[in-house]
Amino acid sequence: MKARIAVIAGDGIGPEVVAEGTRVLERVAEKFGHEFQMNAAPFGGAAIDLTGDPLPKATLDECLSADAVLLGAIGGPKWGPSSPVRPEQGLLRIRRELGVYANLRPIKLHPALRDSSAIKPEVLDGVDLVFVRELTGGIYFGEKTRTATTATDLCSYSVAEVERITRVAGRLASSRRKQVFSIDKSNVLETSRLWREVAERVIKQEFPDVSIEHMLVDSAAMHLIRRPRDFDVLVTENMFGDILTDEGAMLASSLGVLPSASIGEGRRGLYEPIHGSAPDIAGKGIANPVGTILSVAMLLRHSLALETEALAVEGAVNKAIEDGARTADIAEKGRPALTTRQMGDAILAALD
Ligand code: IPM
Ligand code: MG
Repeated sequence: MKARIAVIAGDGIGPEVVAEGTRVLERVAEKFGHEFQMNAAPFGGAAIDLTGDPLPKATLDECLSADAVLLGAIGGPKWGPSSPVRPEQGLLRIRRELGVYANLRPIKLHPALRDSSAIKPEVLDGVDLVFVRELTGGIYFGEKTRTATTATDLCSYSVAEVERITRVAGRLASSRRKQVFSIDKSNVLETSRLWREVAERVIKQEFPDVSIEHMLVDSAAMHLIRRPRDFDVLVTENMFGDILTDEGAMLASSLGVLPSASIGEGRRGLYEPIHGSAPDIAGKGIANPVGTILSVAMLLRHSLALETEALAVEGAVNKAIEDGARTADIAEKGRPALTTRQMGDAILAALD
């Protein structure tokens, strides 16, 4: 098949990990006889430095006309919270412009990595869950105000926004353990009371063989660490999803190994590892490319409907890890670690 993929390296370790993701895409194209046209475009802090805008129009146009977008990471101390223009604004805008309201963050522990997690290995065995994070609404996108003495961020959700994200969770749960956990703060927030009501109705009416359980976000944060195996599909609003998925990443050993897919109606999607730009290790060539490479697998699956190819990439990552390939973040203490490029090499070798 022919496909057009916008490649957005971004800031910090973004360019390093995206380079490995691109190599995997090239190898898949070669091996399976596809033609992927990959176009690089400036974004985030890098684009602010070039043009003053984190999401220049040319980059947005490239993304809108692509079948899929592969993104590294954005942000850094150079464009911190007090800067007038910030890379994060570009990230929120691109999610909105692409209409990718559902952010899927699967968390599955590779058995060979159970000892590299900060959490006790016996708690982790069998962890296999997916977060469905609402990505284009809530407090991230509400009106903001600021005076010398006060600041406000408005959180709002419509019935339609909750319905569509709940449907994504319901469909996903249907193909898995048929359990949806909806996470909210309905003991305090009005948006959460709406969320709970709508999520309950959609699952009951449209997914009769899927069960739904509601949990308050503080309690969910605790149970995620206490009994992570019990969770299957977790659906939640934008900010709770942001926070809980970083916590969830610890169940899979490292932020560096986790991919994400952001999807909407239609096939186009945005694929990014869940880790950030990690300015402290940027340019050192030691970042873990696995999160990006597994995001490439999700891209092949969701946007290009290439299931065989997606499984091949996931299989190659598993094999490389089984064979002992480790970047510093997942290496055992005192054991030598691979560079980003060497980890990419190990995965490419396993793909052949
Ligand atoms: C994420 C990130 C972003 C978010 C930041 C960089 C704006 O933390 O993708 O989880 O909060 O959505
Ligand atoms: Mg986050």
